[in-house]
Amino acid sequence: MNIKNIFKNKTILITGGTGSFGNSFTKILLKKCKIRKLIIFSRDEMKQWFMKEKFNDKKIKFMIGDVRDEDSVINASRNVDFIIHAAATKIVPTAEINPIECIKTNILGAQNVIKAANLNKVKKIVALSTDKACNPINLYGATKLASDKLFIAANNFYSSKFTKFSVVRYGNVIGSRGSLIPFFLEKKKEKFFPVTHSDMTRFLITLDQGIDLVFFAFNDMIGGELYISKIPSVYIKDIPKIIKKNAKIKYIGIRPGEKLHEKMISEDDSLFTYEYKNYFKILPSFLNDSERKKYIKRGKKVRKGFSYSSDNNKEWISKNKLLNYINKIEII
Ligand SMILES: NC(=O)c1ccc[n+]([C@@H]2O[C@H](COP(=O)([O-])OP(=O)(O)OC[C@H]3O[C@@H](n4cnc5c(N)ncnc54)[C@H](OP(=O)(O)O)[C@@H]3O)[C@@H](O)[C@H]2O)c1
Repeated sequence: MNIKNIFKNKTILITGGTGSFGNSFTKILLKKCKIRKLIIFSRDEMKQWFMKEKFNDKKIKFMIGDVRDEDSVINASRNVDFIIHAAATKIVPTAEINPIECIKTNILGAQNVIKAANLNKVKKIVALSTDKACNPINLYGATKLASDKLFIAANNFYSSKFTKFSVVRYGNVIGSRGSLIPFFLEKKKEKFFPVTHSDMTRFLITLDQGIDLVFFAFNDMIGGELYISKIPSVYIKDIPKIIKKNAKIKYIGIRPGEKLHEKMISEDDSLFTYEYKNYFKILPSFLNDSERKKYIKRGKKVRKGFSYSSDNNKEWISKNKLLNYINKIEII
């Protein structure tokens, strides 16, 4: 895959571009590709100001706006070739107590991005999703599932000649704001590390791996695919032991809206899921047989009833690798 060619002379919009993903993606995009322009779209002017100072690059244009506002999304996506939709309300407990706010950003916002892209003849969009969207039990996951469905259906609904919509789904990002490892690092000086349950597992991905999958999706997509990286799992209770010698753990119980294990692909998805060396692809259910062939490429269909879950994962992160990530962590 040659990302230089894919993004050469292109104008790219990142909704939620000031977040953890947006900052890292911007760094790699500017380093590796000769783009025409990068538009960073988000609400908070301070985050944009810091990002502007940090990158100091004339190719980046900052636009204040809210994905809930159709007009501002339409404005931001004029003359844009590619969109990465990263804007989201993503903290599980926040979404549980502010459901309508989460619905407005994650569902209505997604629909505004889809409409704007279609109207402005944007070529390709990749929307970011989460393992919490697979068989969701919390509102955050449910809104992200609805968002995934909107993006996938958009290929069908608009019968768009111009815009192709796909989704990339991944698990906990090591080092992203508010995530597991920064949380435990903050607790290092306290007596105990609060851990919800001794059996709890999660998928772990580095921001670079997430970004690679997004680049891959732009290169591979026909429209309607949901891409999932093969990434390792971890027992949550093992993280404090790596952060601090003789770490003491206090089990505090599973919080509302939390699962013991996360799933990326459910048994029901298995009917449409294909496996590749480093990733899985869930194909849209609306394809006919000849269309499906074009999407599969070199993939192998998973067995009926297959699921990809943080507890049935074949790959587990080694203590050394985790320590290495923790030592290099740069919280953004
Ligand atoms: N981090 C993870 O562990 C993880 C795992 C799986 C999937 N994901 C997905 O990856 C995406 C990016 O996550 P992230 O870690 O980069 O999140 P993040 O650091 O919290 O950043 C979120 C971004 O969205 C913007 N935003 C929030 N609400 C908005 C709105 N209504 N309109 C416009 N912009 C808005 C924020 O800026 P303002 O507040 O200034 O608007 C910020 O730029 C999300 O879709 C998330 O669901 C993340």
